[in-house]
Amino acid sequence: MAKNMDSIQPIKWRNNMLFLLDQRALPHQQNWLQYEHADDVANAIFEMVVRGAPAIGISAAYAVVLAARDAWNNKGGTWKTAMVEPLAVLAKSRPTAVNLHWAIERMITFYQDLDDDKSPESALLEEAKRIHNEDISANYKMGKLGATLIDNNSIVITHCNAGALATGGFGTALGVIRHAYTEGKIKHVYADETRPWLQGARLTAWELQQDNIPVTLQADGAAAALMATTKVDWVIVGADRITANGDVANKIGTYMLAILAKYHNVKMMVVAPTSTIDWQLHEGNEIPIEQRPGQEVTTINGNKIAPEGVAALNPAFDVTPASLIDAIVTEAGVVLSPSLENMRILR
Ligand code: MRU
Repeated sequence: MAKNMDSIQPIKWRNNMLFLLDQRALPHQQNWLQYEHADDVANAIFEMVVRGAPAIGISAAYAVVLAARDAWNNKGGTWKTAMVEPLAVLAKSRPTAVNLHWAIERMITFYQDLDDDKSPESALLEEAKRIHNEDISANYKMGKLGATLIDNNSIVITHCNAGALATGGFGTALGVIRHAYTEGKIKHVYADETRPWLQGARLTAWELQQDNIPVTLQADGAAAALMATTKVDWVIVGADRITANGDVANKIGTYMLAILAKYHNVKMMVVAPTSTIDWQLHEGNEIPIEQRPGQEVTTINGNKIAPEGVAALNPAFDVTPASLIDAIVTEAGVVLSPSLENMRILR
């Protein structure tokens, strides 16, 4: 039943090109932008045409196909060497979401075995499509697993957008909410607006409205008052990178919510595919945190709101320590009370 709630898919491959739904224009305009070159996809990732860790990874996988086509057309039998530079540019497009690196590495490993003297495009396209489809399947699994933790008629808060738009489809945190809703477990969702990019206001509110899931938008600063005055059951969010000990980097403001949740006895669930786990990093303070232009904070939709010349801090993510998290839900299983030891069940 929940599977019917997957009408939104932000990434498409059509006519030998990558199409991305421009998330900067949503919800009021639905514009599809088309891409034929990897460096343009890298730019689209940086500019947030596509955003959300799994969606960034899937887009990068298709960008590798585009890079390979250009490399083959321009360099023939030395196409593998010609891939090095465009893939380095792609890898730098956003630093925190590890799914970007995971997808590029998986594509590189895959093409090592391909013939130097044959066009790699169709084989690489199959692999990119596999990555895309596996992500959607993982979201269905996580939706089902995460919903088992939720009691009937629960009230939840979500932050940023960890929905269909942030993935191949269906979503991670919103996948759990979608699945749980069909089982009568979700009474109401509060979506934080998520300054400065307003992913909650523009994307999460829109996605939940499409599926008729009751949603109320709130300013980020309203979460504490909501928890103090209403029985909130869960905070449910996605992740951009999870370290071996269960620390989680996610959209700026997630850490604040986790502290509030602990204080108010609200449980905290992180939902992410295993491609978001960086086993090479031991703990959260090793995660590179993207610092974005201050202008994103001093303006809204291009309109200046702060005094000219004021300094603005704009970290895109923060790190929530594992000790503040009750459950990490992945397609490979649920880790309760995440820690170095408890995370081992996913290895
Ligand atoms: O800056 P964004 O919009 O790419 O940040 C997205 C998030 O923080 C999401 O919560 C995260 O990527 C999980 S998406 C399933």
